[in-house]
Amino acid sequence: MKALKLASTIATPYAVVGLSNSKGKLTIESGAISLNEKALLEILKNLGATGKCDEIVKVPFSKPATIYFTGLGESSKSYDNETLRRAAGSAARALAGVSEATFALPATNLAQISAVAEGAALGAYAFNEFRSSSKSEFKDPLEQIIIATKSTSDAAVKRSLIRAEIIARHTATVRDLINTPPSHLTPESFCARMKKIATPLGLKVEILNEVTLKNQGYGGIIGVGQGSANPPRLLRVSYSPSKAKRRYAFVGKGITFDTGGLALKPANGMEAMKSDMSGAAAVIGAVFAIAELKLPIAIDAWAPLAENMVSENATRPSDIINIYGGKSVEVLNPDAEGRLVLADALVRAQEVGSKAGGLDGIIDVATLTGAQVVALGTRTSAVMTNDYEFSGEFLSASEKAGEAFWPMPLPEELRASLDSPVADIANIGDRMGGMLVAGLFLKEFIEADLPWLHLDIAGPSYNEASAHGYTPVGGTGIALRSLVTLVESASSQSTRNGK
Ligand code: BES
Ligand code: MN
Ligand code: ZN
Repeated sequence: MKALKLASTIATPYAVVGLSNSKGKLTIESGAISLNEKALLEILKNLGATGKCDEIVKVPFSKPATIYFTGLGESSKSYDNETLRRAAGSAARALAGVSEATFALPATNLAQISAVAEGAALGAYAFNEFRSSSKSEFKDPLEQIIIATKSTSDAAVKRSLIRAEIIARHTATVRDLINTPPSHLTPESFCARMKKIATPLGLKVEILNEVTLKNQGYGGIIGVGQGSANPPRLLRVSYSPSKAKRRYAFVGKGITFDTGGLALKPANGMEAMKSDMSGAAAVIGAVFAIAELKLPIAIDAWAPLAENMVSENATRPSDIINIYGGKSVEVLNPDAEGRLVLADALVRAQEVGSKAGGLDGIIDVATLTGAQVVALGTRTSAVMTNDYEFSGEFLSASEKAGEAFWPMPLPEELRASLDSPVADIANIGDRMGGMLVAGLFLKEFIEADLPWLHLDIAGPSYNEASAHGYTPVGGTGIALRSLVTLVESASSQSTRNGK
């Protein structure tokens, strides 16, 4: 994708225009551009257009030569940002194979223009890396996005296009990682790919290999990874701007494939477990975007990476491991592996954070439980916390970013179900409320007074249904935009505790 551009007229053969509906009456919503609406409405009626969300109607015209009408749903004086983001994204997806298109949508204020740019850029994505080149029916994504607006020389509008491109490019990296199968993505190659992007951005990269992990006591990462021929890693990507206002740690679950280990998952659906590194990809992608946006917040992003496999070396149910720092865990179910690798990384992230002068918050992101999908479905992620001020900040950021997150509790009474007769804690507890039990397990590894968020993205990270709005099939990149938006809002606030 090329850098986005602004224009006050439509000078491309392809254009995107909005279409809304109020009680059966269609309205063309072309924002800054005026069109021959009467003639077009007649054509649209004859084509049976409805203007509902995710509807794309292609109309051959004169100037521009082809208009893609994208549904905005119910007519409105001012469309909400997410409606615009999705409408632009849907059109961008439909424009695959086209080289350039102008988006003329009803966006007047900065947030709306920014939403159109973001949606279009996020929709212009395809994962064709593993298709043989002879199959030309798989088209390349739309290359050049042009946003039609009256404010073509507004500096803030120009900045919002740059931001949209940065967000979309790193979201594409996250999606690519998720879509890449475990034959081509191992803990080691994940690190190599990330290092290649991190270094030119001026970020510091540290990679611990299996020997160091074992010597230094990372029993969770080793225990999960020891059944695989592809050894585990702990990746750290650090962004430390001078005069940082705050310091956060992000920790993402990086299971490059989750077979369930000796608690082997059923074959049906196991293929989706190539997405079990979505949290790791999201936190690293977020720090890339934050660094490129030059936000004044220091971030350490951690990715504990392992492949959860079956072999004679695999961790057995009843094995006891020691998490970094010493706490012992009885592994009753080797399919509850995410919490084990996360525990190691969370403890290490807090140790490093303390040495650097203290963390203001820590956020883990994980495809942690099937129970998350049962509770909230495939499009809404869960937030659990020990600090409602921090989760409040996060929820307003996610709302602004257009990512659906919902607060979930960590009921104290469920904690006892994790008690082990032989170790400090067991890795599974009550099946009922399994998402919350997993959250309570992680909470054991968080210092009492450190604001912490646990994001369970099991459902929304990987789209097994059809594409919609700016969301493609496969890896979605969920959580990246919320994390970036949270850091943007922290950037415009004063420092916590006057630090
Ligand atoms: N990676 C899975 C969770 C998952 C399930 C993610 C479906 C995305 C879609 C995780 O490692 C897992 O297997 N969790 C178990 C935990 C259980 C054994 C306590 C689960 O949810 O069944
Ligand atoms: Mn598992
Ligand atoms: Zn898993």
